[in-house]
Amino acid sequence: MTLTIPDPALVLLLGPSGAGKSTFAAAHFQPTEIVSSDAVRAMLTDDPGDQDASVEAFHVLSILVEGRLKRRLTTVVDATNLRAIDRKRYRRVAVRNGIPTVAIAFDLPPGLYHAHNSRRPDRVVDDLVVENQAGRMAQALADLPAEGYWAVHVLREADIGAAVDVVRGVSSAG
Ligand code: GTP
Ligand code: MG
Repeated sequence: MTLTIPDPALVLLLGPSGAGKSTFAAAHFQPTEIVSSDAVRAMLTDDPGDQDASVEAFHVLSILVEGRLKRRLTTVVDATNLRAIDRKRYRRVAVRNGIPTVAIAFDLPPGLYHAHNSRRPDRVVDDLVVENQAGRMAQALADLPAEGYWAVHVLREADIGAAVDVVRGVSSAG
């Protein structure tokens, strides 16, 4: 499977905890291209799961996104991105800087989010939280086509573990 993204691009990953967003980002993008809510929370609190730091974490995240897009650098937002208002805010920054936005959504059976989570070595996310996120994912998938992205790529169960290539094929200079 080949996912084409413009170069540069703003890439919004979407999916519940355990969807494999951070794994995907690490496989396909440079560490400096990835801005991660968990990484920022960890820098603020020593604990990537510390939700108390969310307000500050998302503030820092938005500064990083803004600063990178201003410099026309491909930027991947590694967060659940399940709230339409968050996606809209990021996209607005991209539009202002003339950068196209691509959404990459992880549409897996809910059981798989739970299974991935229960096996993860770093931190365990509460089942109820994941269940709630899976419900919001269905809404997000329905909303994405009308949100005005350059492309919406949806990864499904069959794509997990298969060879997925991210091709930065199209220049978005200008
Ligand atoms: P949050 O950061 O909590 O939102 O989750 P995430 O979407 O970033 O998931 P992450 O990439 O951290 O993956 C969660 C767990 O699932 C990790 O332990 C991964 O090793 C595992 N995982 C991720 N992708 C795959 C996959 O394609 N196959 C399998 N078997 N495990 C995976
Ligand atoms: Mg992650």
